[in-house]
Amino acid sequence: MTARINALIFDLDGVITDTAELHYQAWKQMADEEGYPFTREDNEALRGVSRRESLNRLLKGRVIPEEKALDLMERKNRYYVDLLETITPADVLPGALALLDEAEAAGLKLAVGSASRNAHTVLTKLGIIDRFDAVGDGYCVVNTKPAPDLFLWTAGRLGAYPHNTIVFEDAEAGIEAAQRGGFYTVGIAGHDQSVQGRVTKANVVLPDLAHARLADILSKINKA
Ligand code: BG6
Ligand code: MG
Repeated sequence: MTARINALIFDLDGVITDTAELHYQAWKQMADEEGYPFTREDNEALRGVSRRESLNRLLKGRVIPEEKALDLMERKNRYYVDLLETITPADVLPGALALLDEAEAAGLKLAVGSASRNAHTVLTKLGIIDRFDAVGDGYCVVNTKPAPDLFLWTAGRLGAYPHNTIVFEDAEAGIEAAQRGGFYTVGIAGHDQSVQGRVTKANVVLPDLAHARLADILSKINKA
């Protein structure tokens, strides 16, 4: 059966821009202050999941009072928001704008579906917030990825059905969320061999958006 695609939903961090490094630096500063061991490798497990779940994973089973957990998340976010000041339109990843142009020309609806509560700030700093018909962020739903809620909420804002929509994701939790919601998926695997496994369950896997032409993606989705 041929998929009739009329909408695209993009994850933000790791798909449209690479904020994983900034998240890492912010968590790392907090972790160092607290004496918690935290490496770049540990940071990979935080991809796509909420701030709260990120803290849980960083703590690796260490139990702390709720008040302290709130303080740590607040502190990390302050460091992260400071780092966001460095973002400019040059930080849109290669190929993303060309794909948005093609999709717009083809009449597709476009949205962002991000777990981040900073998604509006990041999109504004990148200078592309007006390119999207809807933005779903970390404030829109209670159940975060891998629950399908955020993508379903975002598709609802577009007036699009999941079976007519492709979700672009770089995180395992994001691919699972999209698949549980009944969406088609494109996994953005990156170039680091050690972490490419995280999106293997996607319908189509690409290293990045740099050579992602809309026609190719649609044809691959139809063959998947
Ligand atoms: C996701 C990131 O987009 O947003 C995660 O991939 C991050 O690493 C999550 O934890 C929540 O972000 P924020 O900005 O609300 O702390
Ligand atoms: Mg992501």
